[in-house]
Parts: sequence; structure tokens; C-alpha cells
Amino acid sequence: MGQVIDLGEFGPGFTEDPHPVYAELRTRGPVHRVRLPGADAHHEVWLVVGYEEARAALADPRLAKDGSKIDVTFLDEELIGKYLLVTDPPRHTRLRRLIAREFTARRVEGLRPRVQEITDSLLDAMLPRGRADLVESFAYPLPLTVICELLGVPELDRKAFRALSTETVAPTSTQSEYDAIVRLGEYLTELIEDKRCSPPGDDLLSALIRTTDEDGDRLSADELRGMAFLLLIAGHETTVNLITNGVRALLAHPGQLAALRGDMGLLEGAVEEMLRYEGPVENATYRYAAEPLDIAGTPIDAGEAVMVGLTAADRDACRFPAPDRFDIRRAPQGHLAFGHGIHYCLGAPLARLEGRVALRALLERCPELALDGPAGDWLPGMLIRGVRSLPVRW
Ligand code: HEM
Repeated sequence: MGQVIDLGEFGPGFTEDPHPVYAELRTRGPVHRVRLPGADAHHEVWLVVGYEEARAALADPRLAKDGSKIDVTFLDEELIGKYLLVTDPPRHTRLRRLIAREFTARRVEGLRPRVQEITDSLLDAMLPRGRADLVESFAYPLPLTVICELLGVPELDRKAFRALSTETVAPTSTQSEYDAIVRLGEYLTELIEDKRCSPPGDDLLSALIRTTDEDGDRLSADELRGMAFLLLIAGHETTVNLITNGVRALLAHPGQLAALRGDMGLLEGAVEEMLRYEGPVENATYRYAAEPLDIAGTPIDAGEAVMVGLTAADRDACRFPAPDRFDIRRAPQGHLAFGHGIHYCLGAPLARLEGRVALRALLERCPELALDGPAGDWLPGMLIRGVRSLPVRW
């Protein structure tokens, strides 16, 4: 085995800007043994940084998600239940079939008027103030409100919920991650129980409680809670950073911003480039070798963990020339920001809709949008890429 690269040695600079490290790793090869920084410091995993190898790994059935195959129980699985990202076929196929029809491009397009309304009302509240933290006032509440309405989650204590939810995707310590998952699990159990006992609502959770597939299939209590947990967290902790990272990229590239303002027809391509250039999901969730395999000549033993670098792959010059350049006309087809293969993001149509609606409205209503001080801390860990706050004025 080659040398183990200790990512912790790069210090906090690695969390703020991991791209130079990934670029250096790519020049050395597409797959590396790394020791993870921060809360996960004891873990060593394989990290895939080359585009072709990352894409192939995401679609490789030998790289399993279900920990029971290798005698691992994930924390959230133990506390919340089985969900899509910790299952393999046939269970994954079954769970995904039960939910996929709710997130088709057509179904999601039907949500556009409501997404626009929520966007407009957040901007109505924010604009008279002249300056704000874009994350708190806009980028976070938009996807959170959309996914809560869709699922039928009542008006939450937003601040408390945000702290818990962000802790599950970017934990500051193992203990706080554990506590956050336990509390969210308790919250969802109560919510589902309430819905079971109430007159049927027209929201997604109520529909899932009632759901009977053509084959008479339905979700068990654990599966239902797992699905609610995943949709609620994945449904907003990512999109907030599509909007925030996208606005940061535009403000850092005035020429690109001017081009977009001059021709809003470029918006769809611009959103794809935002996803490629600074995607919200830095690395895909863990996969495990269910049998010995080989990635680009590197042998991986059965049971070893593999982390697929999405932002690393999306800056691979073999696939995207001059990858560090933010270019809204690039048309970065095949970027991996939403993953690839059977776990490809279920919410991609919704995320794209929210991203496009949010950015168009923000740019149109804030012709003088500018940074108003330094951004907040980068989220810890290697899953989510985003800042905690972004002060802006207009
Ligand atoms: C810009 C926003 C988003 C990004 C960048 C994103 C990214 C991803 C990625 C990379 C994966 C695959 C992870 C892996 O293979 O390990 C994924 C899966 C998933 N995402 Fe998203 N996501 C976003 C928004 C959403 C939204 C809005 C929803 C919910 C409505 C959602 C629901 C899901 C679900 C349920 C899965 C698991 C799919 C499966 O295992 O079959 N995501 N997402």
C-alpha cells in the first residue's frame, strides 16, 4: 500500500479551501489512502479524486452502502432506521420506488408557484433592511420552508432545528452528532405518531403513512422515519449551499455576474456551473467494498471504506478544462454534484428549481448586491461545503 496522507496536517485551511490539496492529489493519482481530519480523525479511508474513477465508483455495485454486509452499523441507521443512503438493492430499489414518483421533474414543476411565493416573501422581508446575512434571511429558510411544507412538518422552532440539522451533516464532535440525531429521531417519531392519529392530510408524510404500492408494499415504521429524516435533512442542508456558494462565486467574478445580469437566459447553465465549481456535497457518503476490488490499479480490500470526491472530480482537468475557472457558459454536462448511479440525488429537480428561482429573484430585486464583510466559518467535516453566514448589502 502507498503512503497514507493525513488530511489533518493541512489544518483549517483544508476546510476553507480543499481544492489545492485535491489538485495535488489528482496529479499523483486518482485514488489515495487518507486519514480524515477533525471529528473523524481516527478513520482511514480510500479517497477517489479522479473524475472517471469517481463516476465509475459511484455506479459500482461492489461498493455497498448497507453496513450490515460488513458488520458495521452506522450511527444514524441505529438511531433513525434504514434509509436510501444506507441500503443496497433490492431494499434500496423498493424504498426508492415508493418515493420516486413524488420527485419527478413534472411533479416538481407543479411546486414552482409556491417556491416563487416563498422566495418573494423572504425577499419582501429582507430587502427593506438594506443588509443581511444571506444564509439566515434567504438561502436557509427557502429550502427549509419548501421541504417542510412538502413533507407536512409544522412550523418548527427554526433556530433550534437548524442547529440540530446542521450538526447531523457537519458535526462539531461525535457527541453532538449523536445528540442531534437522537433529538431529531424523537421529533420525527412524535410527528409521525401525530399524523397517524389525525385526519389524513395531503402532505407527503401522510401519503407515505397511507401508501400502498401496486404490490401492496408499504414502509415499516423505521423505514418511514428514515425516509422522513433523509428527505428533511437532504432537502435543505444542501440547497442552502447551492444558493450561498453560487452567490459567492458570482460576487467573486464580477464579469460573470455582469454577463448573467445582461442575459438571464444564461441562468440554467450558471446554476450547473455553480454546482460543478463549488458543489454543496464535497464527498459522497461512504461506500464499503463488499468484496476485494481494484480502482485504477489500487487494490481495495473487502470491508474497506471508500469516499468518492465529488468536488475533486468536478475539478478534474481531464473532464473540465481549466477547472478552477468559474465560467457560466461552460455547460458542465456530467458534473457529479448530485452523485451518479442508483443513489443519484432524488431531489435534483427540486434543488435546481429552487436554485434557479432563488438566484433569479435575488439578482433582479438586488441590482447592487455586494458582499458586506467576510463570510462566516466553513462547515466542518468533509461532507458539506458551505459557510455558516454570508453578509451582503444591496
Ligand atoms: C443542490 C442541492 C442538492 C445536492 C448538491 C444534492 C446532492 C446529493 C448527492 C451527491 C447525493 C448522492 C450521495 C451519495 O451517493 O452518497 C444525493 C442523494 C439524495 N438526495 Fe440530494 N442533493 C441536493 C438536494 C436534495 C433535495 C432538495 C432533496 C429532497 C427533496 C434531496 C434528496 C436526496 C435523497 C433522498 C438522496 C438519496 C438517494 C438514494 O440513495 O437513492 N437532495 N443528493
